[in-house]
Amino acid sequence: MSVLLQLDQVSAGYGEAVVLHAVSFALKEGETLALLGRNGVGKSTLIDTLAGATRQHGGRISLSGKALHGLSSHQRAAAGIGWVPQERNIFKSLTVHENLTAVARPGRWTPARVYEMFPRLAERKTNLGTQLSGGEQQMLAVGRALVLNPRVLLLDEPLEGLAPIIVEELLRAIRRITREEGVSAIVVEQHPQAILRVSDQAVVLDQGSVRFDGRAQELLDNREKLDALIGLAKGHSDARHAS
Ligand SMILES: Nc1ncnc2c1ncn2[C@@H]1O[C@H](COP(=O)(O)OP(=O)(O)OP(=O)(O)O)[C@@H](O)[C@H]1O
Ligand SMILES: [Mg+2]
Repeated sequence: MSVLLQLDQVSAGYGEAVVLHAVSFALKEGETLALLGRNGVGKSTLIDTLAGATRQHGGRISLSGKALHGLSSHQRAAAGIGWVPQERNIFKSLTVHENLTAVARPGRWTPARVYEMFPRLAERKTNLGTQLSGGEQQMLAVGRALVLNPRVLLLDEPLEGLAPIIVEELLRAIRRITREEGVSAIVVEQHPQAILRVSDQAVVLDQGSVRFDGRAQELLDNREKLDALIGLAKGHSDARHAS
């Protein structure tokens, strides 16, 4: 499979502050990459940098060989970057259906296909964003990114705070979107086991630098290595998911 997204020596941050230091990795077409690391290591900054929402200080990001530098978030969306930020940007004052139709662009992913993927959303078509559960809001946020027909989906902690049954539903959807539909994905997670099961590649960040870049299976097979790389992240997320 060919490389879809390539980062070479990317440094980025906010204003003069540099959060990411010389980050390099490549994501292949149709693959899922788990982006892991402790709180505050720069996972969201990396996602936001790909989406064009931070200040890039150096290096190169390319999508199918085309440099993204200088493109606005809107232009990156048009180029195929589907961004679901950590704060789930849905329009709370619009209905589920309006949220999807307001942004849809021609392509394979239509609101109807989103409803097929997430039947819960179909049942709540006419509900306002404010009337959705956390899990439904996350499904809608993913649906909104999908109807833009992206080539790569960027999901920042999509499973955060969700009940186990909803987590499984979203993981199944992510797997379907990537394995069956050929969309690539980068998924930030603090609960490594769950996301590694549906990922091909894993990248672990520490203080803004890449500490591990390899196959997800390698970390699933080597629990000690995973614990050493991520430290206490697991205990933290277990507590979170148990609530
Ligand atoms: N808007 C901002 N302006 C300035 N600094 C920021 C901003 N957002 C994040 N930072 C800083 O960048 C660093 C990385 O933060 P980031 O949110 O990328 O981490 P993260 O890995 O996503 O953490 P978490 O797991 O808590 O979501 C932190 O030191 C943070 O304080
Ligand atoms: Mg974050």
